[in-house]
Amino acid sequence: MRVFAHRGYSGLYPENTMLAFEKAREAGCKSMELDVHLSKDGELVIIHDEMLDRTTNAKGLVCSYMLSELQAINAGTNENFQGIPCLDEYCQWAKQYGIFTNIEIKTNLMYYPGIEDKLLAMLKLYGLVEQTLISSFNHGSVIRMKQLCPEIQCAFLVGGRGLANAGSYAKNFSVEYYHPDGAFLTKAHVDECKAQGVGVNVWTIDDLGLLSKMTSWKVDGVFTNHCAPVMKLLGETHA
Ligand code: G3P
Ligand code: MG
Repeated sequence: MRVFAHRGYSGLYPENTMLAFEKAREAGCKSMELDVHLSKDGELVIIHDEMLDRTTNAKGLVCSYMLSELQAINAGTNENFQGIPCLDEYCQWAKQYGIFTNIEIKTNLMYYPGIEDKLLAMLKLYGLVEQTLISSFNHGSVIRMKQLCPEIQCAFLVGGRGLANAGSYAKNFSVEYYHPDGAFLTKAHVDECKAQGVGVNVWTIDDLGLLSKMTSWKVDGVFTNHCAPVMKLLGETHA
């Protein structure tokens, strides 16, 4: 089972920072999940929310700041400054360490014209297309990415109770994975995806009881904020 460090090792370190990604890698995790938005000057930046307020020392919309300004904003702690990372910086790091990445395009609330094209261009620049899985709650972004690059692996993200026929829905768009909310997932949903040849990666699994249920259902991967204990519990079965 693949273990994705959700926003890096976000259970112990500031989410979506290079520190959180590096700490996950040091813990032995080879797969990361991160979220991308566009800056005012159209650069890809790594942060979860559309607003800076929750995770940084600044306020306002991410897209109202230039990249250079975002890099000077603290997404870390008072003791340990961590600028908001640009995807370029992350790609250099991921390439260096052979990291597999689920990049979530955060276009569910904001519309960032051309974000899929920019993302693909960067992945091609770093030779990371094969080591990347693209997802979004905005299925239009996923379908756009598939149109631009049929060989890049993609996933439909869904919240709440999910989709009844997620497997056939994803297969219809040649989308390889379904990313449901583990709190609502049922074995029937997993089995339907498997029957259609669609993989299932589940978020966000920090509860070890829920993890053992996902293991018994043979899901392909889990996203967790606590990658070290999850990998320890899975032993040799984690990728
Ligand atoms: O991609 C899985 C998960 O990250 C989706 O939800 O809100 O944590 O980005 P969120
Ligand atoms: Mg995410």
